[in-house]
Amino acid sequence: MHIIAILSQKGGTGKTTLSLHLAVAAERAGHVAAVIDLDPQASAAGWKDSRPGETPVVVSIPASRLPQALEVARQGGAEMIFLDTAPHSSEVALAAAEAADLVIIPCRAGILDLRAIGATARLAKIAAKPAHVVLNAMPPRATNVLADAREAVAVHGLEVAPIAIQQRAAYAHALTAGQTAQEYEPDGKAAEEMAQLYAWLRQVLPASAEALRSA
Ligand SMILES: Nc1ncnc2c1ncn2[C@@H]1O[C@H](COP(=O)(O)OP(=O)(O)O)[C@@H](O)[C@H]1O
Ligand SMILES: [Mg+2]
Repeated sequence: MHIIAILSQKGGTGKTTLSLHLAVAAERAGHVAAVIDLDPQASAAGWKDSRPGETPVVVSIPASRLPQALEVARQGGAEMIFLDTAPHSSEVALAAAEAADLVIIPCRAGILDLRAIGATARLAKIAAKPAHVVLNAMPPRATNVLADAREAVAVHGLEVAPIAIQQRAAYAHALTAGQTAQEYEPDGKAAEEMAQLYAWLRQVLPASAEALRSA
């Protein structure tokens, strides 16, 4: 079972959007996926309430119950777990990072946003987990953003995922409808870039002994 913590100490960067889209991408790739919603605002769980389908499983729990929830997921045959988190609790974010194999830090592309990832980067470092920045909600025709972002986050010892997610209405519309962009607009660009992001994620997942056993 792979556990991916989606962290950023800033609100509105795309933690919930990426958690849900990556979980649906995992399901579409044939892996049993679940989202554990550690944000007291429970927006991932709210999405699940408005979703007609059974999968992915989304559970909303306090961080103190994370070990038990992961055990239930493991016994239930989950293969990919995404931990969606709140922006302002470093304690919960650290618990998520410690439980995870890999940390994803969604970040909007502005220089102020990029500079603000230091706190989140430190949490991943304390937990000693590999962490990658995923640029989200990039404006159209943004040139050189990836290169600038790489430079800005390198000081924190982080890498930027080669797949950047654009600002697209399909992401917001889909979630409102209890869907993800892959379902809302299957042939759209959002669906395509999310499939690419998922393929990248599979590549960078650490090949832990357990992961190899369950692959
Ligand atoms: N790539 C994107 N394109 C368009 N809207 C986005 C994108 N990513 C996030 N949003 C919107 O930005 C807002 C914040 O995203 P959300 O995933 O809830 O962030 P967080 O969970 O980090 O607070 C939501 O309204 C969401 O629909
Ligand atoms: Mg959220």
